[in-house]
Amino acid sequence: MRIVLVGPPGAGKGTQAQFIAGHLSVPKISTGDIFRANVSEGTDLGRRAKEYMDRGDLVPDEVTIAMVRDRLGEPDARNGFLLDGFPRNVPQAETLKKMLAEWDARLDVVLELVVDEDEVVRRLSGRRTCVSCQKIWHVDFDDKRDDVCDDCGGHLFQREDDKEEVVRHRLEVYQRETAPLVQFYGDEGILVQIEATGTVEEVTRRALAALESPAA
Ligand code: AP5
Repeated sequence: MRIVLVGPPGAGKGTQAQFIAGHLSVPKISTGDIFRANVSEGTDLGRRAKEYMDRGDLVPDEVTIAMVRDRLGEPDARNGFLLDGFPRNVPQAETLKKMLAEWDARLDVVLELVVDEDEVVRRLSGRRTCVSCQKIWHVDFDDKRDDVCDDCGGHLFQREDDKEEVVRHRLEVYQRETAPLVQFYGDEGILVQIEATGTVEEVTRRALAALESPAA
């Protein structure tokens, strides 16, 4: 399957992506994770992306699209993928459609995680990410009292863009740039919306059920 996950910052896209991709045996491709890896490795791409990410703005389309094209061209993505964080605006969505058409492919489902703004701020202020395995934790919901990943022993860090003023700006950018994708993919007939509140396990169950019968 070729799936896109859409939803505001903190909706749980990264959290759900790791479970859904594992369940469907497709690669999880997160543009945010790829940018962050490049920032920490100090690559040219990372240096270009960092100033936009720190402000909570979108990285310019030409940079992001070239990176996604390279990643989708890799052999493991040939028969399916789960995209988390791309596309992020209508021009990216139109480019993705053309890119897939070149490979005689198309998206199967766009899954929107629906969650309100107060919940998003609560989730992001407590988020911690493992520097080694990228697993996402929450200080309250996962009762994390230390900075150590229970899965791999790696160090947990707080993202620069999870400070409250940057989160507010990311939410504005989401409403302006990304929310129109709901209409775009609704018109394409491939949008499925699920309620993303409740426990992580409940949301995963809803997501997998929606993917198994997207028309329901
Ligand atoms: P990106 O990394 O994609 O950030 P985002 O979309 O803002 O989403 P987040 O990663 O903040 O949230 P999420 O929905 O994945 O939530 P999570 O699962 O972590 O992008 C970062 C930046 O990169 C952008 O600002 C931009 O600069 C750049 N960028 C990326 N893609 C781009 C593109 N296509 N074009 C241009 N620029 C791009 O969950 C959040 C917290 O909540 C966690 O602590 C988690 O444990 C907790 N949680 C999750 N689910 C639940 C639940 N059900 N109950 C309780 N807690 C939960």
